[in-house]
Amino acid sequence: MADRATADLLARMTLAQKVGQMAQLAIPGDELPDETLDAIRAGRVGSFLNTRSLEQRNRLQRIAVEESPLGIPLIFGRDVIHGFKTIFPIPLAQAATFHPQLVEEAAATAAREAREAGVDWAFAPMVDIARDPRWGRIAEGFGEDPRLAGEMGAAVVRGFQGDGDVLGPGRVAACAKHFAGYGAVEAGREYNTTWIPEQLLREIHLVPFKACVDAGVFTVMSAFSDLNGVPATGNERLLRGILKAEWGFSGFVVSDWAAVTELVQHGLAGDEARAAVQAVRAGLDMEMASRAFADHLERLVEDGIVPLGVVDGAVWRILTIKRRVGLFERPYVEPPPSRCASAAGYGELTLARQLARESVVLLKNDDRVLPVRPDVRSIAVVGPLADDAREQLGCWAYDGDAGASVTALSALRERCGSGIALHHEKGLADCRSDDRHGFDAAVAAALRSDLVLAFVGEGGNLTGEARSRAFLDLPGAQNELLSCLAQTGRPLVTVFMAGRPLIVGRACELSRAAVYAWHGGTMAGPAIADVLFGDLSPCGKLPVSFPRTVGQVPIYYSGKNTGRPARGGARGIPPGTPLDPVGFESTYLDVDVTPEYPFGFGLSYTEFQYGDLRVTPARARDGEPVRAAFRVTNVGDVSGVEVAQLYVRDRVASVTRPLRELKRFARVALEAKASAVVEFTLAPADIAFVGNDMRATIEPGVFDVFVGGDSRATLAAVFELSQA
Ligand code: NOJ
Repeated sequence: MADRATADLLARMTLAQKVGQMAQLAIPGDELPDETLDAIRAGRVGSFLNTRSLEQRNRLQRIAVEESPLGIPLIFGRDVIHGFKTIFPIPLAQAATFHPQLVEEAAATAAREAREAGVDWAFAPMVDIARDPRWGRIAEGFGEDPRLAGEMGAAVVRGFQGDGDVLGPGRVAACAKHFAGYGAVEAGREYNTTWIPEQLLREIHLVPFKACVDAGVFTVMSAFSDLNGVPATGNERLLRGILKAEWGFSGFVVSDWAAVTELVQHGLAGDEARAAVQAVRAGLDMEMASRAFADHLERLVEDGIVPLGVVDGAVWRILTIKRRVGLFERPYVEPPPSRCASAAGYGELTLARQLARESVVLLKNDDRVLPVRPDVRSIAVVGPLADDAREQLGCWAYDGDAGASVTALSALRERCGSGIALHHEKGLADCRSDDRHGFDAAVAAALRSDLVLAFVGEGGNLTGEARSRAFLDLPGAQNELLSCLAQTGRPLVTVFMAGRPLIVGRACELSRAAVYAWHGGTMAGPAIADVLFGDLSPCGKLPVSFPRTVGQVPIYYSGKNTGRPARGGARGIPPGTPLDPVGFESTYLDVDVTPEYPFGFGLSYTEFQYGDLRVTPARARDGEPVRAAFRVTNVGDVSGVEVAQLYVRDRVASVTRPLRELKRFARVALEAKASAVVEFTLAPADIAFVGNDMRATIEPGVFDVFVGGDSRATLAAVFELSQA
């Protein structure tokens, strides 16, 4: 039925109107130039991004629906990356919760808020796998692991879209981006080239996109980046081949901002007309912001250079998605009846706080200095990020209301009341400052206190798009500030707020306890206070490996063994030590090969033990599921949640396999001294790999199963897979 209506509509469209559907324009300001309004009237625009207000959106929509020849509604897109008015933790932090259901709820909340403001379509989730923290956009994705990123990406898709064929009220279309490989930009430099062998592409970078497609994502955004010599936006093998033909993706593909005309700068096309040919042939359906399609496509079809069928195919997809968004039935968005659109409601704030507190990762806790002990009577709150309402929101929080965000300082003030004296000194004006004039006051505050809480890291505007960094140390003089605070002898607890793994070894050494709180969004402050005071045991786990130094990058847990593995994970050679005999191993001379903190890592206020691992059957036939059951016990004296993780290693295969790969995870809530049995079932697809023929391959042999609380899990069992 819907298809027939779409076919009828398509049959009535002129070529110019078809090309119009393929054009998405950016809204430059409150008023649009007359020529843009005329273009809407003529049916020469299909979509806008970044409308300024609900009123503007409805005004433009009215022109499209009531004044254009066929009345086809526009679709309005926007970057809704980690919340809209209520800002949730950045996606990387959300990944640290290992809690897809909660991530789904947050996405549903963001969808509701965005929809009220007239957004039909959110440019998220970003599911680019990132293994290089120099890349500022690592903040926007779900980390280094394809399984985790896939589960999180699918959760966002469900949260945005719901599960109907047509969007229900308060839902928006999702957009899995940036297809594909952008997270692998060389040297972590923004927009740089990528070279990704097909096996790696299929096994790592494409996996979370496939998960989003399987979850029914309506749209996909093509990446800016060059993939193996063919920029993604003009890459037919990728868009038309893998995404559409192989995976059966039925939505549409939008380019990233001006990525079509950038094919000229890339050197894939000599001019913008040729760029349009390359992109449309590759399977790109809608062009964002630039005008190569709008200016050239009509003529290219008339001249027989681009077949009409290619344009029809693109328009069919766009109209189908507009129908599924519900735009033909309900083109206008009603303003919300009573709610003030600028302030988040109670439910949203509770959820934002919950997600933020579950994302906090405890890196270190010597002598159990945390949670804050009952006999602490005074606390020094120091550091440039203790009271910065804007920076804690992180990147891509333009619609967020910094006025609504609660900082750590204000949350601590509320919590401490008159019972604990708080002494606040910034120490540094902002996180990039080198000006040490505030150090004396910060040290004096520390000396007057029983405990020092230092809030350091990087601001939100040092992360996100076009924010690559070559140095990943704490910026400015923050390490020196920590060093002065440590010298006071007062117990120092460092809270890092950042959008990427920073180099934190030195800071952690100086601190008795260290907490990684990311950019936690609107409710970052209360969430951090909840954790510091022990309302909950920290349960976040790192979704990405933390390097000791930039020289180790890229670093990720699922590396291969090499022919000469480093024994004992070793080891920097101290200065002055003779270099001979040198071990001919896969190590560095000057730093340990292991990360500072591994993937999956995170401490708790309690402790968990793993035992009784049983993997059955011990000899499985090809196609037979394998069950792994084990016991997790809370051996400490407070309750807590543990993210139990299961990794697999395929010992011998026709393509060498990683030392371990995350296959399953589960959050296990346990009271003190309680235990639970966790059971996972591995399907044949879980142990398949991409063979030399680029197909999913399962080979017989021995597989190790590891379970534990991080990627170094040691409790192990094996099973053997035999031929069917
Ligand atoms: C460029 C970014 O790469 C992309 O993620 C975003 O959705 C678009 N700009 C639109 O703002």
